[in-house]
Amino acid sequence: MQAQLNSKAENPKKKPIIFSGIQPSGMLQLGNYIGALRNFKLLQDDYDCLYCIVDLHAITVRQEPAKLRKLCYELVALYLAVGLDPERSLIYCQSHVSGHTELAWILGCYTYMGELQRMTQFKDKTAKHAENINAGLLTYPVLMAADILLFKSNLVPIGADQKQHLELTRDIAIRFNNIYGNVLTVPEPFIPKVGARIMSLLEPTRKMSKSDPEDTYISMLDSPDAVRRKLKRAVTDSEASIRFDAESKPGVSNLMSIYCSLTGSTLRQIEDDFAGKGYGHLKSAVAEAVIETLAPIQSEYARFMSDKGALDQIINNGAARARSLADRTMATVRKKVGLAPM
Ligand code: TRP
Repeated sequence: MQAQLNSKAENPKKKPIIFSGIQPSGMLQLGNYIGALRNFKLLQDDYDCLYCIVDLHAITVRQEPAKLRKLCYELVALYLAVGLDPERSLIYCQSHVSGHTELAWILGCYTYMGELQRMTQFKDKTAKHAENINAGLLTYPVLMAADILLFKSNLVPIGADQKQHLELTRDIAIRFNNIYGNVLTVPEPFIPKVGARIMSLLEPTRKMSKSDPEDTYISMLDSPDAVRRKLKRAVTDSEASIRFDAESKPGVSNLMSIYCSLTGSTLRQIEDDFAGKGYGHLKSAVAEAVIETLAPIQSEYARFMSDKGALDQIINNGAARARSLADRTMATVRKKVGLAPM
């Protein structure tokens, strides 16, 4: 890991820093893999990457302690199973690095209530968790800003649902810099070159999500039988023609997107290859492509999960490295804000 906090001027050969966080809120699904995880691996070559397991964000909604603890391990094992290399990428748990919450407190003093109350995710979550509208739901984006700014991240790979939070992160950083000088790096959103938006199998106008019913998504750990069964039941249409039209044929188009992203085939090619064939054919081809993709990941995952000692070591190393990077930012921030020297 060569992530450095020096400015580009001090070290012109430095790679841009990428930061991404995933909540440990359940085994990831195929959409997460195609949209995010798979790219994480490719990015390792050209960037200094930090891949954080954001357990502190997860507790903004009620979690079962034993389950949360287990999910953190599972996510680390999955990161490793898809090919993230802990020597090159920094893999760690957010709660192991106190700089996240320290910086979040400080940045919270530079964030307006109105900004937080305007966030669409806050509005959605307060509607969904009406029984537990806690302050953490409101300040969630400030913690996310701290995650990103703590490591002077240049680029943040995010989906559309997190764009607003990244905009706010930028606003906070710019506001802070306007007061204290050029302290924080203002990050940019990073939209990967490849990657499709994978939709629910049963409601293909909605994004595939692990918080929806089981039959609507393919888990990264689904068995071949489960994959075949779920795809067999995937919603299509009555036209019986394999062509891409996300508007009027969302189900078939989604199956085609999945197939293309996993096999590298183009939409044009599938339309030719499957000309005159029924949806059953397409579904089994997609199922086999999914099974072939998941098989090596699942066996690597099982291997990592069977060695808790090795996982602990990776998690602890990641935390130590992340802490030392975070400490440098925190020292500057503390000094600039005027907190008493230690
Ligand atoms: N809020 C993000 C999500 O729910 C997760 C996240 C937390 C994150 N901190 C981050 C993503 C920093 C990117 C960068 O998807």
